[in-house]
Amino acid sequence: MEIDGLAVGYDGMRALQDVSLRAEAGTIVALVGANGAGKTSLLRAISGLVRAERGTIRFDGADITRTPAHRIVRRGIAHVPEGRRVFASATVHDNLLLGAYVDRNAAHRKARLEAAFAAFPILRERLEQRASTLSGGEQQMLAIARGTMSGPRLLMLDEPSLGLAPLLIPQIYAGIRAVAAGGTTVLLVEQNVREALRAADTAYVLQTGRVVLHGAARDLIGDPLVQEAFLGISAA
Ligand SMILES: Nc1ncnc2c1ncn2[C@@H]1O[C@H](COP(=O)(O)OP(=O)(O)OP(=O)(O)O)[C@@H](O)[C@H]1O
Ligand SMILES: [Mg+2]
Repeated sequence: MEIDGLAVGYDGMRALQDVSLRAEAGTIVALVGANGAGKTSLLRAISGLVRAERGTIRFDGADITRTPAHRIVRRGIAHVPEGRRVFASATVHDNLLLGAYVDRNAAHRKARLEAAFAAFPILRERLEQRASTLSGGEQQMLAIARGTMSGPRLLMLDEPSLGLAPLLIPQIYAGIRAVAAGGTTVLLVEQNVREALRAADTAYVLQTGRVVLHGAARDLIGDPLVQEAFLGISAA
């Protein structure tokens, strides 16, 4: 995916300004920044849920800047919004199958289920349970796994570790790494900067709607701006 010069606004208020970003196939790209920096707005622009005022978004060689949201999914982009919205009264199995609605091919579905279980083994054990009976961490795993069930080439995750017990976060991240190892590009939005930078290949730092820093994630962990603005705070 290639984003160039993207601007997004709400009623005249700019949420993103001149944002450019590259996500190479099969890599994990982290997008980090404080509250209100514009992270969710970027994911919503890619998904076609908010309109780009300027700039272009290209995916797989095609310009998708003005592609409507329902077609974006069919192009191979899945978006897991913040807040682990699962269908509480449906089983884990049905939640996963709902994620596969764009491709009803049975063989694809079976292979994707197996890949989801490989990434998040607990889901196989919980398969016939209602989603409401899962812990918060398990619900987040289910939300991510459901996102993979359409067979996306780009999976976008908005704050996957938000509100979870620290003990569960490594499991979530192990699953995310497994998804990427299977060839899916992952665009990961986090306020949990330390965890995101550890998992990612490349990273972008957003501040008030602009990219102020980007590069290899391991270099950004050592960057003074990142350490002062994010890691110092999260270590406190
Ligand atoms: N639907 C909306 N209408 C008006 N303003 C909005 C809307 N959504 C977001 N904004 C504003 O756009 C800016 C960027 O918000 P956004 O949600 O993209 O940031 P974020 O980095 O995801 O923040 P958070 O960490 O709180 O999730 C903020 O100033 C926010 O108040
Ligand atoms: Mg957000």
